[in-house]
Amino acid sequence: MVRMVLDPAFTVADVDERLFGSFVEHMGRAVYGGIYEPGHPSADADGFRTDVLDLVRELGVTVVRYPGGNFVSAYDWEDGVGPRERRPRRLDLAWHSIEPNEVGTDEFMLWIERSGAQPMLAVNLGTRGVDAARNLVEYCNAPAGTRYADWRVENGHPEPYGVRLWCLGNELDGPWQVGRKTAVEYGRLALEAGKAMRLVDPSIELAVVGSSNSSMPTFGAWEDTVLDLAWDVADYVSLHSYYDPLDHPHVDAYLACSLDLERMIGTVVATADAVAGRKRSRRRIGISVDEWNVWHRTANPHRPGANEPFRRAPALAEDEHTIADALVVGCLLITLLRHADRVKIGCLAQLVNVIPPIRTLDGGPAWRQTTFHPFAHASRFARGTVLRVEPEGPTYEVPGEGAVPSIEATAVLGPDGALTLFAVNRADATLSVEAILRELDDVEVAEHVVLADPDIGAANTAEHPDRVVPRRAAGATVRDGTLRAELPPRSWNVLRLRAPDRPSDLATLVA
Ligand code: AHR
Repeated sequence: MVRMVLDPAFTVADVDERLFGSFVEHMGRAVYGGIYEPGHPSADADGFRTDVLDLVRELGVTVVRYPGGNFVSAYDWEDGVGPRERRPRRLDLAWHSIEPNEVGTDEFMLWIERSGAQPMLAVNLGTRGVDAARNLVEYCNAPAGTRYADWRVENGHPEPYGVRLWCLGNELDGPWQVGRKTAVEYGRLALEAGKAMRLVDPSIELAVVGSSNSSMPTFGAWEDTVLDLAWDVADYVSLHSYYDPLDHPHVDAYLACSLDLERMIGTVVATADAVAGRKRSRRRIGISVDEWNVWHRTANPHRPGANEPFRRAPALAEDEHTIADALVVGCLLITLLRHADRVKIGCLAQLVNVIPPIRTLDGGPAWRQTTFHPFAHASRFARGTVLRVEPEGPTYEVPGEGAVPSIEATAVLGPDGALTLFAVNRADATLSVEAILRELDDVEVAEHVVLADPDIGAANTAEHPDRVVPRRAAGATVRDGTLRAELPPRSWNVLRLRAPDRPSDLATLVA
């Protein structure tokens, strides 16, 4: 039995809608064959796959980070604008691929408008610096009348794009990064690039690079130095984290990996606040978790070998997501929501074909992976105020981790008074939940939706795109001010409570 109290008086924070972002990098078939495939039966006049756009909108993505990732650290953005026939084909060193530059900033801006999300652009602080960064901001955001703004106009886009969110580089702490830097080198560069970018457009928000994962030898020290140096321009510090099932001896340990994200967020918050303290600043830096996901990195190739030929859009990291992956994604989403007071931006990495919730075949179908569903549910229903929920219940032991709670849960109170409880049952047995509802007396259970399967390795494929779909569960009740529900073994659960006179709107998310 798991017990908890849901009380609107105990809150974490309002959810920033930018928590439900994603990421499109020039990597593998994310762009070419993913969002863009002229000649595909569903392609629109600009070559964008409308079957993918429909799924992106259904997923509920609010922000899309672009163009990388590791790719951005050696990218010359100027190659990707202007007449297509004059754009160079370039070697992409990050992914040992050929970059045809058929899609660049202007095409991405067209696509993002159609997706309904907002852009988050990254600048190259690996091989380039202040100049390229401030020119890109001018290209995107300045009104006509100066060199780079006029170039945009010449390319057919008279109005500024008004891109608000910018990443000051990507993973520059990592030895794999082209143009890797020490924290001091990066902190100084981020300050100067950010300063110049803001002189072009004072309304932009900037994220400085944080650690690439919690195992980096510089984790913590990197954030401390970078924030110390770039404090004046940093609105957010980024945090990246991926979880590989093969890094764990068994599925119970894999299902516990959101505890690493939990600790990582705590460490970054503490470090940022320590820097604030030293500076006698009351400012609280936000966290931009702008790359997070599961990643079958060991099992599935994500980079061609160094001796293989460079090719355009090779299939990289096209992982097939299982039920176990969906449960981990569910736990990671719950963890982000539980830190809604500090985590303001999140990007599920990535969106299409590369470590993806959405997969496609060239010339063929697009389909939802298992991980699509928890994200779509959270993006749709985790809008409002996160309540402070402290479930009490069974735990299980994972060596090196200690006691892992069998249930991961959080609840969000919507502006319409509806309450949504999100819960993952990690255990291989049904768990009964009793939640005492305080100041929520007029609600009843509108819906209990479950994603689960007797086979924890079950996945969706091109042949069987709906092998795993969310389904309605019966039996959850509210009586005498208590919600009672049974959570099936190893399941993602969405319990919607609302006043009886309000219709439920889960219908389109359930088969
Ligand atoms: O998302 C794939 C890669 O993972 C990104 O390019 C990089 O930033 C991270 O290491």
